[in-house]
Amino acid sequence: MSDPCTLLIFGSTGNLASHKLLPALYHIDAAERLNPASRILGFGRRAWSDDEWRDQVRSTLAERLPGRLDEGVLARLLARLAFVEGDLEQPEGYRRLAERLRAEEGLPENLMSYLAVAPRHYGPIVDQLAAHGLHAQDVGWSRLVVEKPFGFDLESASLLDQRLHRWFTEDQIFRIDHYLGKSTVQNILVFRFANLLLEPLWNRNYIDHVQISHAESRGIEERAGFYDGVGALRDMIQSHLLQMLTLVAMEPPPSLDAEALRDEKVKVLRSIRPIPREAVHAHAFRAQYGPGRVDDTKLSGYRGESGVAHDSTTETYAALKLYIDNWRWRNVPFYLRTGKRLGRTNSLIAIRFKHPPQQLFQSTAIEQLKPNWLLLNIQPNECMRLEIQVKEPGLEMRAQTERLDASSCMLPPEQIDAYEALILDVIAGEHTHFLRYDEVDWAWRVVDPILKLWATERDFIPPYPAGSWGPPEANRLFDREDQDWRNGLDQ
Ligand code: BG6
Repeated sequence: MSDPCTLLIFGSTGNLASHKLLPALYHIDAAERLNPASRILGFGRRAWSDDEWRDQVRSTLAERLPGRLDEGVLARLLARLAFVEGDLEQPEGYRRLAERLRAEEGLPENLMSYLAVAPRHYGPIVDQLAAHGLHAQDVGWSRLVVEKPFGFDLESASLLDQRLHRWFTEDQIFRIDHYLGKSTVQNILVFRFANLLLEPLWNRNYIDHVQISHAESRGIEERAGFYDGVGALRDMIQSHLLQMLTLVAMEPPPSLDAEALRDEKVKVLRSIRPIPREAVHAHAFRAQYGPGRVDDTKLSGYRGESGVAHDSTTETYAALKLYIDNWRWRNVPFYLRTGKRLGRTNSLIAIRFKHPPQQLFQSTAIEQLKPNWLLLNIQPNECMRLEIQVKEPGLEMRAQTERLDASSCMLPPEQIDAYEALILDVIAGEHTHFLRYDEVDWAWRVVDPILKLWATERDFIPPYPAGSWGPPEANRLFDREDQDWRNGLDQ
C-alpha cells in the first residue's frame, strides 16, 4: 500500500486532469493502491465548494470511463476530494491553500504538487509554494511533478530548471513524460534486454532504418491555448518520440536503477548528430492540417479551430530524420513522425532490416524480395509482428510476406494508461521512469536548431487535408526511394 499523501492538482479543470489524471486516480483507487487516508486537492479559479468539485469530477469520469464506473469505488474517490479556489498568479489562493493544508484534520502531510498547467505557470507556482513553506520536508515529504514540455527551448528549459532548484532538490522533482509510464513502452526494454535472440542483429550491420511514428486522428480539441505556438515538434517529438528512440537505441545499462538507466539514455541523445541550420530542411518537415473529411464527417482545418490564430503557422505535423553517431548506429537513419488529424490513431516502432547480401533468387519468378520488418505497435493495442519472406505454396518459385504476430496482438487494448504507474512511482519516490534534467537538455539540443529556423519562416506552412496521412512532401526526408512510412501494422 502506498504512503498516505495529499495530491494537489494545479489545473484541476484542465484537459490533462480530466483526460488523464482523474481517470488514472480512479483506476488506482479501484486497484486499492491508494492509501485510505490519501486526499486529492484541486486548485483553480472557479469559486467551487468541495461538493461542487465532486459533482464535476463525477461527470468527468462518467464521460471518460463510460460503462466502467463502479459506484463503490467512485464514492470512495469522491470522498477524497477537496477544492481550493485560487488564481495561479495571485498569492491569496496559495495562502488559503497553505492554511487549509496546515489546519484541516485528515489531510496527510506528504504533499505531491502536480503541475498540470501551461508551462508559463510553472515558475510562479513553484515560487508561491515555496513562499508558503509547501516545498519544505520537515514533517512529511514534498514532491513536485512537472509536465512536459519542460521549457519552450533549450535556454528557457535551463532557466526553468534553475528556478525549480531554488526551492526543490533534485530528489523532490519528478519531470514527467507519460510515455515512460506506458507498459508497452516499458516493454521495449524487456523485449531488448530479456531476449538474446535479436541482440546480434540490433545494429548498423543488419538494420536499414528505424521509424517511430505517432499518429492521432483527433485534432487539437479544446487545447488551442496550450498548443498554438507550441506545435508538434515540442509537444511530441522533443519528449515522447525521442524517449522512445533512446529505448530502442540505448546500450544495456549496468542495472535498472534510475541513474544507470538514465545515463544510457543520455548517451544516446548526446550521440545524435547535430543538425546545422543549413541542413534543417533536409532533416525536418512540418505541416498543418487543413479542412478535410473522415467518412461522412466534415472536419475543420487547424486555423478554423476555436482559439487558433487565423494565420497561425504552428505545425500539427512534424517529421525528422536523425542519425546516432555511435558504433552501433552510425548511418542508420531514425525517422520520427507525429501528426494530429491523421488517418488513424496509432503509435508504431517499425524496424526495417537490410536485404540479404546475395541475390540468390534472381533467376526465379521472385521479382523483388521484400525486406524483413520488426513491428512493435505501441497503441491502441500492443502487438509485436515479424514480417518474413516465405515461398508461396505451389509449383512456381514465388515469395510472399508471412506475418508472425505475438499472441498478445489478439488482446483488447489496455484500459490502464500511463499515469497510474507514474503517480504511484511519485508516491514511492521512485525516479526511474522520470526524466533527469540532462535528458531534457540534450533533447532540446536535438530540436533547437529546427525550432529556431522554423521560427523565422512564418509566411507559409504546407497544408494536409484533415484525415489524410500528411503531405507526400514529407517523403523527401527518406534517404532512398525504397523507403516509405509505415502507417500501422498493415500499411
Ligand atoms: C501529450 C500531448 O503529451 O500526449 C498531446 O500534449 C498528445 O498532444 C498526447 O495528444 C498523446 O498521448 P497518448 O497517451 O494519448 O498517446
